[in-house]
Amino acid sequence: MSLFRTKSVEQSIADTDEPEFRLKKSLTAVDLTVFGVGVVIGAGIFTLTGRAAHDVAGPAVVISFIIAAIACGLAAMCYAEFASTVPVSGSAYTFSYASLGELFAWIIGWDLILEMFLGASVVAQGWSAYLGTFLQQIGIVLPEAISYGGVVDLPAILLVLVLGGLMTVGIKESLRVNLVLVAVKLFIVLFVIIAGIMFINPANYTPFVPESVPTESASGLTQPLLQFLSGLEPATFGVGGILAGAALVFFAYIGFDVVATTAEETKRPQRDLPIGIIASLVICTILYCAVAVVVTGMVPYSELNPSAALANAFAFHGQTWMATVIAAGAVAGLTTVVLTLMIGATRIIFAMSRDRLLPGGLAKVHPRFRTPWVISLLVTVIVAVVAGLTPIGVLEEMVNIGTLSAFVLVSIGVLVLRRKRPDLKRGFRVPLSPVLPVLSALICTYLMLNLSVETWLRFLIWLALGFAIYFAYSRRNSRLGTGEFLAPRVVAPPKK
Ligand code: ALA
Repeated sequence: MSLFRTKSVEQSIADTDEPEFRLKKSLTAVDLTVFGVGVVIGAGIFTLTGRAAHDVAGPAVVISFIIAAIACGLAAMCYAEFASTVPVSGSAYTFSYASLGELFAWIIGWDLILEMFLGASVVAQGWSAYLGTFLQQIGIVLPEAISYGGVVDLPAILLVLVLGGLMTVGIKESLRVNLVLVAVKLFIVLFVIIAGIMFINPANYTPFVPESVPTESASGLTQPLLQFLSGLEPATFGVGGILAGAALVFFAYIGFDVVATTAEETKRPQRDLPIGIIASLVICTILYCAVAVVVTGMVPYSELNPSAALANAFAFHGQTWMATVIAAGAVAGLTTVVLTLMIGATRIIFAMSRDRLLPGGLAKVHPRFRTPWVISLLVTVIVAVVAGLTPIGVLEEMVNIGTLSAFVLVSIGVLVLRRKRPDLKRGFRVPLSPVLPVLSALICTYLMLNLSVETWLRFLIWLALGFAIYFAYSRRNSRLGTGEFLAPRVVAPPKK
């Protein structure tokens, strides 16, 4: 049997109608946009803006945000075309099953699991850090051993357990909680922009692109793969710094792709998914650029705080109450990111187990809540353990590489599906194909090359593990492989 066997688009859609696996269809375009903004705005804007400006890009970090937005925008269009053609749970995984074949679908699913599990864990840790800062500001200090960076990160574990409970009770309910938290988060981001304008000193924008300087900080396994392969002298700032900044702040945009994982729960997926994906990306890009301009105008880039720049920019001007409000807002904001990434992870595993690439028993839907409760439980426990026990600062780049690799494959998948199935109804089409999908794959690959050698090694180990599971279990049990898709469904005769 071929390694590239594909599951037909019709089959993918038909699967979603099997009663035991059917999810509730309740989401609208507005829900999806809220969902998207909820997952996209998070640890990235609250922490990485300062780090990228301070370490590599200077005030030109706004250009880094624009470059990362272009990469994401191109990938978003590819996602939108796919999601409007194959409106099935599982996002890029499902799309590639229908175009590139089972093996690629497995790899993408495996990458997305990496993105969402680690993403949720990393952001839960960030949440705990902000909670610590906030509590400290109001005079409460948690014991070191059970707080952020301690032996066990207890606040992060508790957060994940509460969110896991919400997620199991039902997606509509979770989205309602999400809506409130997203509103708080948007308020805080707008607050930073509007209140910050008063403190801008135009002199801070000069030099806008600081001159490139040699650096020794990145060498060996910590240097970008591109630098390692090309043997170029390590440097920061200048044009190279803007590009390195783009690879870094890419993290801030991660999550719009998760919107596509809720396709089956959307009322009119062909129309609403492209709107949800693209609208959330546009909103976030505008806010990010505004925050970047304001914050680098408030404080000279060399004095920006690399871990909590937004709150500290106000503390820099003596506005401590504003800094406290921003820390509180970050706590609310990061909550929604963790929740949405956890929901995304359950949906990917749901799709993979329904196809029997993972054990089918996992995909059972709860009779009352109509959510995949077994998977929800599994995701909750794993994310809680990873967030609570892994040392901080190791996993972020892994999230980026997992996501970028999925983007590359989705961009290629759009071209393959157009060639193989030109007849399918597409609610949205990427303009200027094949130029834009090819450009999308190239830009994402370039950003991947800017990640460290260490990250690449870890990623390769993750892939090797994925291949081992695929060939030992998934390939043999896959419904596509066992021919279960092809057999006519046996309907029991009505009882007399
Ligand atoms: N984009 C998300 C964040 O910045 C992952 O937290």
